[in-house]
Amino acid sequence: MNAVRIMKNAKEGKYAIGQFNVSTDEQITAIIEAAKNLNSPVIIGTSEGERDFIGVEQVVALVDTWIAKTGLPIILNADHCKSFDSVKEVVDAGYLGIHFDGSGLPFEENIKITRRIVEYAKNINSSILVEGELGYLPGGSDIHKEIKIKLSDLTQPEEVKDFIRKTGVDSLAVAIGNIHGMKSESDDPHLHLDRLKQIQQAASDVLLVLHGGSGTPVKDLEEAIKLGVVKININTEIRLAYRTALQKFLEENLSEVKSYKILSPAMEAVQKVVEAKIKLFGSENKA
Ligand code: 13P
Repeated sequence: MNAVRIMKNAKEGKYAIGQFNVSTDEQITAIIEAAKNLNSPVIIGTSEGERDFIGVEQVVALVDTWIAKTGLPIILNADHCKSFDSVKEVVDAGYLGIHFDGSGLPFEENIKITRRIVEYAKNINSSILVEGELGYLPGGSDIHKEIKIKLSDLTQPEEVKDFIRKTGVDSLAVAIGNIHGMKSESDDPHLHLDRLKQIQQAASDVLLVLHGGSGTPVKDLEEAIKLGVVKININTEIRLAYRTALQKFLEENLSEVKSYKILSPAMEAVQKVVEAKIKLFGSENKA
């Protein structure tokens, strides 16, 4: 599986591929069922916390099994790695994509560690997809009461060229008004598409990534894809669909004890979310 090639195909075809985050086996199954149904490439994402829960070797084995069984382009991506050691662990275990999030570090420090990571990963496998990050995204993949976006946290187009040239990343996660998670009361924020346009010009061939896809207005996502975003990360909407379906089933079936029955509605709910995103992102029939 050549992860860089899969993403370049998306850029050439002007569609985006969804990264869907997981922490359990049945969530992976639900996502792959959606990808199979719609003949779409997909990215399975795990944050550090999510992969601690499912197990690094275990999730690699599960995804490899699905690749062999379906023949679909599936990339296992390590989301928000916070250190070189965190990246090394997943690259050594066989992940095909890694995201180093040095956005909280001073610019030069972010460049230094990202470059070291690019060198390490590409030396093991030149087709591993390496994603860097510039700009600060508030929040975690949760439901927030209030969340503030500061304009000074957005990705600065002037830094993009320099970062790309000095690090050699394949892709870049950008902050353009996107947040991790969803707002419970007010509207979710709109994207600064004018800023995205400037970033896109500065990034030239480097692939653009949008984190915090949950709850983002559909129109904004469509425009972002037109402006060159090729990877959109979705987590909170999956977590919410899973939890809501699970809770409903348990409340309605107080005496059910079979796990495969209890978890089926949650899987169906996740599959539905993923299928809707695949259609929205335009990756249907692009496997
Ligand atoms: P959401 O939880 O907002 O979908 O963001 C997910 C994400 O960006 C994972 O990296």
